[in-house]
Amino acid sequence: MDKILSVLTKELEHAFAAAGYEPSYGRVTVSNRPDLCEYQCNGAMAAAKAYKKKPIDIANAVAERLAGNPLFDEVQAVMPGFINLKLSPEYLAGYLNQMAVHPKLGAQEAETPQTIVIDYGGANVAKPLHVGHLRSAIIGESIKRMGRFFGHKVIGDVHLGDWGLQMGLIIEELRDRQPELPYFQQNFAGEYPAEPPFTLGELEEIYPAASAKSKEDEAFKERAQQATLQLQSGHPAYRALWRHIMNVSLPDLKKNYNNLNVFFDLWKGESDAQPYIPDLIEDLVQKGLAYESQGALVVDIAQESDSKELPPCIVRKSDGAALYATSDLATIMEREKLYKPNRYIYLADKRQELHFTQVFRVAKKAGIVKQDTSMAFLGFGTMNGRDGKPFKTREGGVMRLEALIGDINRQVLSRIQENRTVPEAEAMETARMIGLAALKYGDLSNQAAKDYVFDLERFISFEGNTGPYIQYTAVRIQSILEKYRQQYPERKAGEILAAASSGEKALMLELARFGEAMEAAFGETAPHKVCQYIYELSNAFNSFYHDTKILAEQDESRQGSWIALITLVRRALGLALELLGIEIPSHM
Ligand code: ARG
Repeated sequence: MDKILSVLTKELEHAFAAAGYEPSYGRVTVSNRPDLCEYQCNGAMAAAKAYKKKPIDIANAVAERLAGNPLFDEVQAVMPGFINLKLSPEYLAGYLNQMAVHPKLGAQEAETPQTIVIDYGGANVAKPLHVGHLRSAIIGESIKRMGRFFGHKVIGDVHLGDWGLQMGLIIEELRDRQPELPYFQQNFAGEYPAEPPFTLGELEEIYPAASAKSKEDEAFKERAQQATLQLQSGHPAYRALWRHIMNVSLPDLKKNYNNLNVFFDLWKGESDAQPYIPDLIEDLVQKGLAYESQGALVVDIAQESDSKELPPCIVRKSDGAALYATSDLATIMEREKLYKPNRYIYLADKRQELHFTQVFRVAKKAGIVKQDTSMAFLGFGTMNGRDGKPFKTREGGVMRLEALIGDINRQVLSRIQENRTVPEAEAMETARMIGLAALKYGDLSNQAAKDYVFDLERFISFEGNTGPYIQYTAVRIQSILEKYRQQYPERKAGEILAAASSGEKALMLELARFGEAMEAAFGETAPHKVCQYIYELSNAFNSFYHDTKILAEQDESRQGSWIALITLVRRALGLALELLGIEIPSHM
């Protein structure tokens, strides 16, 4: 089915043509003056320039052609040349009835599905998962879900940081603590133990201790760097330790991401890219792109159009070590070999912008990806505390994700226990769903690139632009539908009839733009647009509901129409929340 804006635009195009003008002036948009009209067309203003006429004359001529058109209740040409449109309630009802039998409520799948690799999550193995990685996971998951909704083949890769200095730090800290381990014996010839020399709990304590030590102890830091380099060049004992670190960390990471309802297709990491590095470097050298500079190997990426000077991309340090960029380039080589994506989307802190600009440019320059492959970096801002500084624990430390989620759930649980609206047996699970909605929506409702303040009080409120408010609206509709089924078990939801009130029409207009809103959100990789839409839809529903006694209505077909209408609202909220990775509890 066509989106409503396309339907309206087609009508206007016909009218422009019939009045003797280029049809392309007929583009219709949602009104920015909802007090005056529902939709508008501003084409007469542009046409006026081309045809050297007064805009209002063109607008009037077009409006005349639309007189009696069954789609519109009102077509008005107003100064200086706007065409204001109001839909006919019958047409609008018919459109919603069509939506009701469409699996995606009128949202259209892409004509040519793409293969999209989305690189998000980005946790660093053996370092605690903290709120910095939260945004990447939450936003990336939503974009992945949107891509699938529109029929694309989306491959989500967690791209773990599993090959960096943290590994050397852990190795050296372990040596200091347990020098007798076989991994540290010079001439050890046997098999390394299958059991890891640490538990998850110990590992979680080892890394921060090592990291702190390296800041005070220069020699220790150097040892850690050496160990990292040796690990990367294949040192058997360090490789064995690395495998233990991975085996102990990964199940915990998976558990954490599962708790967030974040699911990756690929659990690859920087380490998987290592085998591609020698070919990458050779290729860059052979193509004459990489050259030596102060002992390092670099590739120029500056372009004339740059507004500021961009430094070259370093692909090998003077000590021979590969860098972050090297590993990202090598990863692209692997992705090209395995998946041939049409599009790459990377999520990371916006301070990594230069890094990704460098990587993308080298990838294109060297022909690792095709020129028409889209490579996008979605940089996000910082999650701040109420003091406006990056979010910390009360003691000033880095907040661990698990602790944060635990805090949220406890607060939500005590609130729903106060309300006494959720059966006791469901309380924990409901608190989890609401808490996660609070956290995710609090993040997703902001433009990704902006910093935002983590305000738990506000995020968990059932009122205002919050996740729980949207969930609450959906739950409320569910409960009306259940009561209706109990009261009238023999009745089926009817056809949606023309709106009987302005509140009802406003709700119907919101519903009608579901497909457009979702498409715009994915087109701009902007989950906040999904939030904006469902917030407005929820508001429209709640004010309609406030004015309408659905269950007490005597006119059976009117009641059936309302039931069909709110069923559609419920489905729209469900689909949109699914795109955000938010579940809907059965009671709230
Ligand atoms: N591990 C990185 C970090 O914690 C994020 C990885 C982002 N993805 C990438 N392909 N570079 O900052």
